[in-house]
Amino acid sequence: MRRKIAAGNWKMNGLRADLAELENLSTDPGVDVLICLPATLIAAARDLPIAIGGQDCHDATNGAHTGDISAPMLVDAGASYVLTGHSERRSDHAETDADIAAKSRAAHDAGLTTIICIGETLAIRAAGTTLDIIDGQLAGSIPDCATADNTIIAYEPVWAIGTGKVPSTEQIAEVHAHIHARLKERFSDGADFGILYGGSVKASNAADIFAVPHVTGALVGGASLTAADFSPIITALAAS
Ligand code: PGA
Repeated sequence: MRRKIAAGNWKMNGLRADLAELENLSTDPGVDVLICLPATLIAAARDLPIAIGGQDCHDATNGAHTGDISAPMLVDAGASYVLTGHSERRSDHAETDADIAAKSRAAHDAGLTTIICIGETLAIRAAGTTLDIIDGQLAGSIPDCATADNTIIAYEPVWAIGTGKVPSTEQIAEVHAHIHARLKERFSDGADFGILYGGSVKASNAADIFAVPHVTGALVGGASLTAADFSPIITALAAS
């Protein structure tokens, strides 16, 4: 049985006072709730009753990389998950699929579970090559050491992130079924990988998205910043 996962992504938002939001989140025994926090907040959040993730890590354990943070540092601070390959990292920091595979490998070596993010731009969707791009990202971003235990995939269409635009459930179903099939081909436990949907998930669309086959949860940005917005998404996932 694949676990249901509600993952928040605070991006570059949040000061210590904002962590109080996480104390009021709904919980459900059937849903794993985690929040990917700015690195500055991870240690302060480590005693909260939810799992914590980082938003990126370097592929090296330590060294002369000013401003970067390593996977063992995230573990030391209290994280058990890390996002790799978020589209904002791919675009703001020119991260390639090979970079993301290396970071994911380092994260696994440190004992972190990776949430590896993939997704097409609007231009790719318009060109009709979404599944080709997804294939390239899956092949290039997921390291061979990935297993259903240490890796979760997040399908996030770039054009749906922070825009309020959401693909149709048919579009989500097509890509999720494709990802599931590719993972099954490549990994012996590929059928068991969790596959999240991300991009403008909110209380009003969560139940429809969670009803799509192979959607095992959500990666939620804006709507994870407050307990009032995130809790109904957790509840919808529990009910799905
Ligand atoms: P959003 O962000 O929910 O604000 O669209 C999702 C993400 O970037 O993970």
